Amino acid sequence: MVVKTASTGFRSLLYRSGWLYNAITRRLYDQDKKFFTIATLIGKGPKRVLDLPCGTGYLMRFLHPAIEYEGIDLNHRFLKRIRRKELKKRNITLKKIILHQKNIFDFQDYKGKKKDVIVLCDILHHVYPKHTELINIAKKISQKVIVCEPYVTKPREITARDKLLKIVIFLGKNLPKPLFKIVDFLFLDNDGINTFSRRSKWNLDRKALKDFYKSMGFNIIHKIIDEYIAIWESLEN
Ligand SMILES: C[S@@+](CC[C@H](N)C(=O)[O-])C[C@H]1O[C@@H](n2cnc3c(N)ncnc32)[C@H](O)[C@@H]1O
Repeated sequence: MVVKTASTGFRSLLYRSGWLYNAITRRLYDQDKKFFTIATLIGKGPKRVLDLPCGTGYLMRFLHPAIEYEGIDLNHRFLKRIRRKELKKRNITLKKIILHQKNIFDFQDYKGKKKDVIVLCDILHHVYPKHTELINIAKKISQKVIVCEPYVTKPREITARDKLLKIVIFLGKNLPKPLFKIVDFLFLDNDGINTFSRRSKWNLDRKALKDFYKSMGFNIIHKIIDEYIAIWESLEN
C-alpha cells in the first residue's frame, strides 16, 4: 500500500526510474552484500523496521519474513518499483509492508510509534546539513539505528565495480564545478528534493566519516566497497 502526501521537483535521469537506479547503483556498489549485511544486523524474527528513505525497497529482498517493514520516500517512481509483481518475483513475503510517499522530515507522522530498527541508508549526504537532526530523531524512536554512507562523494574518488562506470567516471573526473552541477542536475544525484548547493557541501572522507559516526555514538562495523555501515543501539530496554 502506498500512502501519498507529497511529491518531488525535477529529478535527474537516475531518479526517474527505479529499474535504472538499481542497475546503476549495482554497478557502483556491492548492493547485495550491503543490504544483506544490513539485514543481518537487523536480525531475524518479528521486528518493526523503518527504512528512511526506502528508495526502491532493495533492503526488503534480504529481510526475515517475520519483519514488519515500513518504507518512506518522496520518489513515487521508486515506490512504484515495489509492486506486488516485483515482490512475488523476488519471493519477498514480509509480515507487513507499508509504504508512504512523504517527506522523511515529517516526523510527527511516525514519531509516536516506537520502532525496533531504523535504517538510514545512503541518505545523510542528500539531506546535509539536516543529517544530524535525522539521526537524533531516529535514535529517539528506535532501539537500533543502522546507517550506511559512502566515504567518497566526488566522481574521481569512486572505485566503481565495472569497466563501463570506470570509463564514465574517468571522463567526468576533471569537469569544472559549474559543468558538474549541470551533469548532476540531469543525470546524477539530483533527487528533486535536496539542492546541489547543500548536497555538494557534504565532504566526508574515510576518516571524517568514521569520526562523524563515532561522534554520534555509532560503531563502525563494515566497509563495503566505498561505504561504511555503522550501528547505534539504545541502552534502554
Ligand atoms: C540515494 S537514494 C537511497 C535510497 C535507499 N535508502 C537505498 O539505499 O537504496 C536517496 C533517496 O532519498 C530520497 N529522499 C531524499 N530526501 C528525502 C526526503 N526529505 N524525504 C523523503 N525521501 C527523500 C530520494 O527520493 C531517494 O530515493
